[in-house]
Amino acid sequence: MSDPFHSYHDYLDSRVRLFVGDLTEHAVDAIVNAANSTLLGGGGVDGAIHRCGGPAILEACRHLRHTRWPDGLPTGQVAVTTGGRLAAPLVIHTVGPIWGQHHGSEASLLADCYRNAIALAADRCLSRIAFPAISTGVYGYPAPEAAAVASKAIADALARHAVIKEVRLVFHTPEQMAIFAAHQQFGS
Ligand code: APR
Repeated sequence: MSDPFHSYHDYLDSRVRLFVGDLTEHAVDAIVNAANSTLLGGGGVDGAIHRCGGPAILEACRHLRHTRWPDGLPTGQVAVTTGGRLAAPLVIHTVGPIWGQHHGSEASLLADCYRNAIALAADRCLSRIAFPAISTGVYGYPAPEAAAVASKAIADALARHAVIKEVRLVFHTPEQMAIFAAHQQFGS
């Protein structure tokens, strides 16, 4: 699997497409960042986005902290910034749940990340967005469970927001994509 822009699985009449590669390379209307509540960067996807997007993203995140989110972005919430030098002009930052830290509400908080990001994109009339596998890295959310939660939340959100024409799910490795494909609940 060498082609980063070859979609290996499609769902919901191809409104959802799975990819393997680097999220930061996808030229969609917005990519979604698996951030932390500080919005001031980190490792994983967050680190890659800030590294590739450049300082304009961090500057915009700092502005968010000084204005709308002085105490940080709550888990499940979303905030949008410039994409800086990224192929995508916008970044939708969201904070996924940390597995085992939310007294059993991890699934609903993870669903909020996907639902709120799609709603924000729709509000801005964006039609193509790309997600990483939120919370399945540092935040320890088991990938099979995350696949079921994310796919149901995405299907629900796409039923509400016809303006969204394409949701890309970008996995870092073929193995991670295979786990998602085996546990997704899109119905096909
Ligand atoms: N493109 C696509 N997927 C990626 C990339 C990338 N460039 N880098 C990492 N991933 C994958 C990981 O393999 C994992 O499957 O994204 C998924 C999410 O992993 P994390 O980035 O660790 O995000 P998360 O588990 O939500 O933890 C968030 O980690 O990086 C910090 O600042 C971030 O504190 C926050 C925490």
